[in-house]
Amino acid sequence: MPWVLCLCMFVLVGLALSALLKMAPRGPQEPPCLPALPLIGSLLSLHSSDPPHVLFKELQRKYGQTYSLMMGSHSVIIVNQHIHAKEVLLKKGKTFAGRPRTVTTDTLTRDGKDIAFGDYSPTWRFHRKIVHGALCMFGEGSASIEKIICAEAHSLCSILSEASAVGLALDLSPELTRAVTNVICSLCFNSSYCRGDPEFETMLNYSQGIVDTVAKDSLVDIFPWIFPNADLQLLKQCVSVRDQLLQRKYDEHKADYSDHVQRDLLDALLRAQRSTENNNTAEFGTEAVGLSDDHLLMTVGDIFGAGVETTTTVLKWAVAYLIHHPQTQRQIQEELDSKVGSERSPQLSDRGNLPYLEATIREVLRIRPVAPLLIPHVALSDTSIGEFSVRKGTRVIINLWSLHHDNKEWTNPELFDPGRFLNSDGSGLMIPSPSYLPFGAGIRVCLGESLAKMELFLFLSSVLQRFTLSVPPGHCLPSLEGKFGVVLQPPKYRVNATLRPGWETNSCQMC
Ligand code: HEM
Repeated sequence: MPWVLCLCMFVLVGLALSALLKMAPRGPQEPPCLPALPLIGSLLSLHSSDPPHVLFKELQRKYGQTYSLMMGSHSVIIVNQHIHAKEVLLKKGKTFAGRPRTVTTDTLTRDGKDIAFGDYSPTWRFHRKIVHGALCMFGEGSASIEKIICAEAHSLCSILSEASAVGLALDLSPELTRAVTNVICSLCFNSSYCRGDPEFETMLNYSQGIVDTVAKDSLVDIFPWIFPNADLQLLKQCVSVRDQLLQRKYDEHKADYSDHVQRDLLDALLRAQRSTENNNTAEFGTEAVGLSDDHLLMTVGDIFGAGVETTTTVLKWAVAYLIHHPQTQRQIQEELDSKVGSERSPQLSDRGNLPYLEATIREVLRIRPVAPLLIPHVALSDTSIGEFSVRKGTRVIINLWSLHHDNKEWTNPELFDPGRFLNSDGSGLMIPSPSYLPFGAGIRVCLGESLAKMELFLFLSSVLQRFTLSVPPGHCLPSLEGKFGVVLQPPKYRVNATLRPGWETNSCQMC
């Protein structure tokens, strides 16, 4: 194959050039760089059986905490410590607010017409504002989001009860995904899915396909022209199924839209679109201001993508750690028994009274961050990180895994210990290290942080109030090693949910 010969030639020439470059003095300000060859960049140094976040942490030993590498022709800086991470995200947040364009994210987002992978621009800011406003409309303080989550928690508990009654060990993954999907569906479309709904099954399938293929910095993103590979084909199929589904919801919504009622996020976006269309001063039309149908659909798609997989994955990690640590589970249950009791379900207003549960959630987010590399950022102008200069266009990866496992910041970082987030007498919460950023920080901070925290609290407290979770007899404890994709996922596992004493006949009111 001619391209193989070309590639070999490039590699050989590159090896020679790189040897020469090594001899030449480097600019004093540049971060240490992994060896790089033209075309393939640092690929040879990145070959490892470890997932990228673990490998990037390891490479600190040789190159220091902040170093650079080449992904194909793109320069990438890896940041492994909190001082530099905060400089990027907070101090110079606007300068580093760009996102890289890749083949997979462009396929997913119709060329960046969404929030998470969209360029830092007035359109991006406008969409963030609309979504933020819509989330606040349902947000903390207002009763409806709490009601939606509690209804889903109730239905989750009913499924666990049924399984418990017949001694069935469950794979909680589809159940948790449905519960979290329904919260997002209610927010976006004012609708939800019943168990066994074929449309929901379709959604599960395409979501997994997207998680497995997007933004892995896989070969297809580095060399799209050489590797029109199976990953990309799978992603295109999944995106096409997702788009049909979103389009159907969108058309239904448009058909019965009214200016006078705002039912959900899609109504908020449609209202903004209509007011632009009706505004005589809007010379540029909805496309130019970022309110085309494509933009609206991609923003809603984003909230699904960012809101379902992340929260579900944290819940799966939480359950995995709880069945590894029955003592932690018991302690949460004792706290629930004494502060909430069994006459009612936990509510958001109980959060301040359940510090051990909150500390456990924080510890899960620390030890297994679902986005261990955040989403890559891009420098929008020439700038610096610490003593190192950074050129415009450089990609910056914050290795949250390194921040959360830094043994200068955390005692025994590999140990699951919710107590590290409690004050000395265990009565209040604290953040013991500045090296903790599970939702990112600054201008690109997670848009769903407060929603996600409400969901984690209400789902976990409702389940643990009623059930004790354990590994089914004859099964091994789930592995705590994650599978790296767009989120860091735990492996599949089954659990037994056993009704706690006194709960066999109790069906207390939810929220
Ligand atoms: C526990 C669950 C969640 C975790 C741990 C999480 C974490 C994150 C992280 C680390 C980022 C990247 C920040 C950066 O690149 O600097 C992010 C971005 C984002 N998240 Fe979340 N997230 C969660 C749930 C949610 C939910 C429920 C929603 C939607 C309602 C959401 C919407 C978004 C969006 C839209 C972005 C992109 C923000 C931007 O680029 O401007 N996330 N999230």
